[in-house]
Amino acid sequence: MGSDKLISMRDALDNPFSPGSDTIPEVWAGRTEQLSDWRDVVRPRRLAGLPERGRTILGEPGLGKSTLVRRIAQEATRSGDWVTPQLRIPAGADPLKLVADAVLKLAADAGLPASREKRISDTIARVQAVAVSGISLTIRGADGLEPYSALTQLLIEVGRAAIARRDVIALIHIDEIQNITDERALSQLLIALGDALTHEVEVDVPGGARVNRSLPIAVYLTGLPDFEDMAGARKGATFARRFKTTTLSAIDDEDLAEALQVFVLEGWEVSDGNGGTARIRMEPDAAARVVDICRGEPFLFQLAGEQAWYAGVGATITAEEVLRGWRGAQREATAHVERILERLPARERLLLQAMAELPAEARTLTRIAEGMGLAKVTDAGPTSQRLDTVRGIIDRGKPYSFRHRAVEAYLSSDWPKV
Ligand SMILES: Nc1ncnc2c1ncn2[C@@H]1O[C@H](COP(=O)(O)OP(=O)(O)O)[C@@H](O)[C@H]1O
Ligand SMILES: [Mg+2]
Repeated sequence: MGSDKLISMRDALDNPFSPGSDTIPEVWAGRTEQLSDWRDVVRPRRLAGLPERGRTILGEPGLGKSTLVRRIAQEATRSGDWVTPQLRIPAGADPLKLVADAVLKLAADAGLPASREKRISDTIARVQAVAVSGISLTIRGADGLEPYSALTQLLIEVGRAAIARRDVIALIHIDEIQNITDERALSQLLIALGDALTHEVEVDVPGGARVNRSLPIAVYLTGLPDFEDMAGARKGATFARRFKTTTLSAIDDEDLAEALQVFVLEGWEVSDGNGGTARIRMEPDAAARVVDICRGEPFLFQLAGEQAWYAGVGATITAEEVLRGWRGAQREATAHVERILERLPARERLLLQAMAELPAEARTLTRIAEGMGLAKVTDAGPTSQRLDTVRGIIDRGKPYSFRHRAVEAYLSSDWPKV
């Protein structure tokens, strides 16, 4: 009986770590800047009718882009906002169909289908056509209007309805935007969203005056940094003016440690298998190990935590269990980093390799270019710039350093071996 009880204390149902799942992790770390950007800037400003750009959050796989906006959407839902389900664009899919479908759902939240105004029912009908035909509607030219204008119109109606409700914002989240490879579909989509974001309506204010305000609509786009390449030429300057881009990088060790502090101090509450509760703790060394092992990667953080959880049965997770658990996860950790490296163009990979082979203090562009076998230093310039500004993998300070610490560890040491 006693040992049964022990085993049930760290079972799969109670394990709070969630590598790679689509839920919001129970053990949350950092990203405070992005969360407060939503809470203190985007939401209040859009609610107040002030202009505020959409947000584009990019980053290498596993950095927590989808999760971050999922959490923002959860908070929004809890505040009573109208929130689209996370729209994940499959490779090659027609994004207009998906987005049209989601905007129709927002319209339903706003109660628009019940409206007797012809303008609104016509708009809904047009967006329903977009949901069925997507970008091909442009070709058919059914009613002489491009799909994006129907989407914009309906978003504006949703925005008006939200103004009437006073404290409500409509939030749209589109994930895996790099998968939108059809140029026309991408530009239609970005124009539709951008036009709705910049649209102003006239409202009455006390005293009888009429003033212009923006709509209470917020847009988050998330995806791989490759989206940035589609940016320049296709999306153009208009996009850059309407959306603000953030590139996520590794989570700070202090934030990861803080996330585990609850295990160290109070313990994580679980059911004891007998209708009561128990607490699972971590030795301070165990928590420090998890932080050290995962190198700021949220996915690896969840993985290390999960494996440590399963590596023992006792009420306290020990440092030894963290190591034992990690050994079982090393292959997955390797695969995670290799997946990131494999996606990179050969030249970018070569630069990272050359950089990793130098001692930290010798990582200057000159030495890196030498290591890459390039004749001129300037030949390495564009590649290093991309790895910094587009991908967020390195930082071109003096000297250069890695922001992606798992990539650094993998290329310059035995990590993930411990
Ligand atoms: N802020 C965070 N704190 C803790 N774990 C996180 C955090 N953000 C993401 N994760 C975890 O990291 C993993 C990858 O997150 P995900 O959002 O799928 O990454 P991306 O969309 O950037 O590829 C998931 O297992 C998720 O639970
Ligand atoms: Mg994702």
